[in-house]
Amino acid sequence: MKITVIGTGYVGLVSGVCFAEIGNTVTCVDKIPAKIEMLNHGNVPIYEPGLQEIMLRNVEAGRLSFTTDLSSSVPESDLIIIAVGTPPLPSGEADLQYIEAAAREIALSIDGYTVVAVKSTVPVGTNERVNSIIASLTDQPFATASMPEFLREGSAVKDAFNPDRLVIGVESQQAADLLLELHTPLTENLVVTDIRSAEMIKYASNAFLATKISFINEIANICDKVGADVDQVARGMGMDRRIGASFLNAGIGYGGSCFPKDTHALIQIAGNVEYDFKLLKSVVEVNQSQRWAVIDKLLDSLGTLKDKKIAVWGLAFKPDTDDVREAPSLEIVPKLVEFGALPQVFDPVAADNFRREYNHPAITYASDALEAARDCDAICLLTEWGEFVNIDLAEVEAVMHNPILIDGRNVYSADRIKATRFDYHSMGRPSLLRDNVIVAK
Ligand code: UDX
Repeated sequence: MKITVIGTGYVGLVSGVCFAEIGNTVTCVDKIPAKIEMLNHGNVPIYEPGLQEIMLRNVEAGRLSFTTDLSSSVPESDLIIIAVGTPPLPSGEADLQYIEAAAREIALSIDGYTVVAVKSTVPVGTNERVNSIIASLTDQPFATASMPEFLREGSAVKDAFNPDRLVIGVESQQAADLLLELHTPLTENLVVTDIRSAEMIKYASNAFLATKISFINEIANICDKVGADVDQVARGMGMDRRIGASFLNAGIGYGGSCFPKDTHALIQIAGNVEYDFKLLKSVVEVNQSQRWAVIDKLLDSLGTLKDKKIAVWGLAFKPDTDDVREAPSLEIVPKLVEFGALPQVFDPVAADNFRREYNHPAITYASDALEAARDCDAICLLTEWGEFVNIDLAEVEAVMHNPILIDGRNVYSADRIKATRFDYHSMGRPSLLRDNVIVAK
């Protein structure tokens, strides 16, 4: 199949590479010449494990190419995938200007029957808008489809080749057949539905996962107060198949490019039809306040943060990505600075992106986790990178001024902490103090 993917951001690039790998001829188009130049030199503009290798292999095989010129590949394409950004407007609504511009450009180049599928996350009704823009500018036969993506950053390549399910929103059997043929090698779990429902599935899925996270975070906050252990609670809950074990890791809340944006957008979508989505509003509010648990635990331990050296381990919104969009670090580090602390921060790959978003002379950028901890009064773990999880805690303790560890992601077992002299506080689990007394707050 010949495919054009418009937009070489996260979704577009991973999808384009994946469809080339399963034997299709894919052209990825982007308006930004510097991005295309980078890709044509074999470099990937995002950090995503495994992506570059597969990309290079497919370029070499002649199945994958990159261009700024949409009209060079669109006329020959069977399928055009729109994967441009839909950033939030100040109101929380998705900004659709890039989608609409892509639709106009496609209309000017299509030649013969073409399926135009939207992979960007868009409000209900957007595909119909795309359809009417194209129809108003061309007489060529085409069909629109909604093809929401569920890739997770950091495991996007794995997810692209092993999706839990594929959702296709279509208006004709012909379009459904083409999209089913494309995805046959990838999954048996298919949901073929109408376009509006497909658009809604994406928002509802992300809103539900965000709800699970805020729910377990509130349970963690209660566990903190009643002396229960949220890990045990989540384990017990997760064994009920109706609940499921995933997305019950308590911590400092969700971030990233999807959950915050999509929850706000769904609240707005509901508001537009005069529905007050109270539950989702609370999910967002809980997520916001959860960030401050780290600061509260630091203040409880140290009394004041003024002139205290605080190591911050992890700046990315989650491990295996350099993405800091809506990352808890972007709220917690400025708060530390506001309280007069001297943060010593380290992230394996996200420090440059963090610095571009927020910087302050009080911050020191360390070259590794141990350097970040040197002479510190406390460590805050914000991202569960493997190198923090597997670090030798005795070595870390030895370089600190005061071994206090606030674990925002619940990564260390009680046994590992008990072998050290750390004062250890996590999220919804009993604290462990230096004299090995277990304290429930
Ligand atoms: C998410 C969805 O999983 C994906 O299907 C969608 O299409 C895009 O958004 P992503 O944002 O890459 O993917 O990351 P994900 O692994 O889902 O984590 C999102 C956030 O939730 C992270 O900040 C993570 O730390 C947090 N999280 C996740 C928790 O706090 N607890 C959990 O149990 C799971």
